[in-house]
Amino acid sequence: MARLLVVHHSPTPSVQELTDAVIAGGNDDAIEGVEVVVRRALEATADDVLAADGYLLGTTANFGYMSGALKHFFDTIFLEAGGALSDDGSASPGSGGKKPFGLWVHGRYDTTGAVRSVVSIVQALPWTQAADVLEVLGDVTEAHTEAAYELGGTLAALVMD
Ligand SMILES: Cc1cc2nc3c(=O)[nH]c(=O)nc-3n(C[C@H](O)[C@H](O)[C@H](O)COP(=O)(O)O)c2cc1C
Repeated sequence: MARLLVVHHSPTPSVQELTDAVIAGGNDDAIEGVEVVVRRALEATADDVLAADGYLLGTTANFGYMSGALKHFFDTIFLEAGGALSDDGSASPGSGGKKPFGLWVHGRYDTTGAVRSVVSIVQALPWTQAADVLEVLGDVTEAHTEAAYELGGTLAALVMD
């Protein structure tokens, strides 16, 4: 059974709504043979990461960066998950890898820095970006939850292959 790992920080109802839609998309009836494993960012482990065939990451934008919770996730799993560090301790651009990942970010003003912060770390992991980043500002609409559902389904279909 393929495994899709969802790691998220969803501190408010609106962000949780997006997260729920992503998970529902991953569990769409058209998807077969994929187990969707959901972990809060503060609870996900390196074993969770190593056991997964693909990843969906969700975070709020905080101070122009990803949430502290998702940063904690990366701090915890980065090296065991095959991340490469530069001599100065920054994430070293790697040669990529096959495991697909997707990302959604919710903010109120500007999610640019939050997206950049995640992508700059993930590019040092053996993962490859498999879908456009879903960026949502402000109130969550039906269009946003539909896009989140689509994101979940896309990643699940990719790990199913
Ligand atoms: C300390 C703090 C920093 C924040 N920084 C940003 C930010 O840099 N960019 C942004 O778009 N939203 C920012 N926000 C808004 C959060 O991203 C937003 O509250 C979160 O996504 C939950 O959304 P909601 O309050 O609409 O439910 C910040 C919120 C807090 C509390």
